[in-house]
Amino acid sequence: MSAPVRVAVLVSGRGSNMRTLAGAGGEAYQIALVASDKPEAAGLAWARAQGLATFALSPRGIGKPAYEAALDAALHDAGVEVIALAGYMRLLSDDFVARWRGRIINIHPSLLPKYKGLDTHARAIAAGDAVAGCSVHVVTEELDGGAVLGQAEVPIEAGDTPDTLAERVLAAEHRLYPGVLARFVRDGAWRKG
Ligand code: GRF
Repeated sequence: MSAPVRVAVLVSGRGSNMRTLAGAGGEAYQIALVASDKPEAAGLAWARAQGLATFALSPRGIGKPAYEAALDAALHDAGVEVIALAGYMRLLSDDFVARWRGRIINIHPSLLPKYKGLDTHARAIAAGDAVAGCSVHVVTEELDGGAVLGQAEVPIEAGDTPDTLAERVLAAEHRLYPGVLARFVRDGAWRKG
């Protein structure tokens, strides 16, 4: 049995997906670093309290290249092999994505290829869709555009608001992400870059 794959989770906010991932690695993966572009992110405080290694730096003031260089160094120092974005609200540069090609995955709150970008729940409701959901996908230079690794559907109910739908989708995210990440790290395609 090989050692668990060392995963970094990148968060910008409350980090509920990160908490779910942290509790579910088993023999497949371990959380080697929780990193954030928002030093005040609630998810970071939780990670610190769990004794997880953390990295926090705001790009404000130093600019994106310096921020990403520091992030990249922290990832390498922590021996990170795979990056899981979980509510990370900043676009990674093409250079960064190229350096980590095939090794970054993300969870997005829509059934891709529908509703890339923001306000996914409002857009699904406005379109009159009967189902919504979430997708885990490989991160490429195209926003929310990489290969889809797994999806979960939930119904859109009469009277749903973006908030009520977001809550239902978030519960589906928590069910979906750990299993897809475990499968992704075991599959090993990312090792070939
Ligand atoms: C999730 O809905 C995720 O799909 C989106 O941002 C939200 C993050 O929530 N990208 P959390 O920080 O994991 O609680």
